[in-house]
Amino acid sequence: TMTKLTWLGHGTWAIETGSHKLILDPFLNDNPAAPITADDVDADFILVSHGHFDHVADVVPIAKRTGAMVIALFDICQWFEKQGVEKTHGQNIGGAWKHPFGTVKMTIAHHSSTMPDGSPGGDPAGFLLSLADGNVYFACDTALFTDMQWIGRAGLDLAVLPIGDNYTMGPEDSIEAIKLLKPKRVAPAHYNTWPPIEQDANAWAEMVKKRTDAEPVVVQPGGVIEL
Ligand code: NI
Ligand code: MN
Repeated sequence: TMTKLTWLGHGTWAIETGSHKLILDPFLNDNPAAPITADDVDADFILVSHGHFDHVADVVPIAKRTGAMVIALFDICQWFEKQGVEKTHGQNIGGAWKHPFGTVKMTIAHHSSTMPDGSPGGDPAGFLLSLADGNVYFACDTALFTDMQWIGRAGLDLAVLPIGDNYTMGPEDSIEAIKLLKPKRVAPAHYNTWPPIEQDANAWAEMVKKRTDAEPVVVQPGGVIEL
């Protein structure tokens, strides 16, 4: 099998495992960096890391149109059910569940998580995905934290880290994160959407090559990483 991960700008990723289609943190219609709209998305599962608008904006329309199941923190699943989403699977931090496409473990993230209507979103999360083709860690929106070394013990084929700074860790802290996670490859996300998170991804990639053992993978929005 061949798993494909397509960066759709910001924190949004489409993941095709061969058997299933997933989308992580769909933010497309109001995302200036998105190469497609929410109407273009085909999904069986929607993964949601936390409640901020730039991660949940297009979840409800995609779930209603496709019938996709939302996988998120229990509290966030309840919020989506109130919005009319029919299929949800609530998890919580530290918990893993074997889904039809692979195992999803929710990991800690240091961030905040208020829903767009002001409802509390519980704790923000990252995702450790164990897929047929390898292990992928999406840090999602977070600061650097030393427990990343434990997440790395799973053996990561790919880590996806925010590098935008201001709202999440920036390039310098991402280097420390890579040293803790020890992934084979690392891809940047959550940057260049708006001026406060503008970053030079090629300069970041040079830093990764010089200072870590990981291989940086930089793609443009719409670009694909194969696992
Ligand atoms: Ni956020
Ligand atoms: Mn965000």
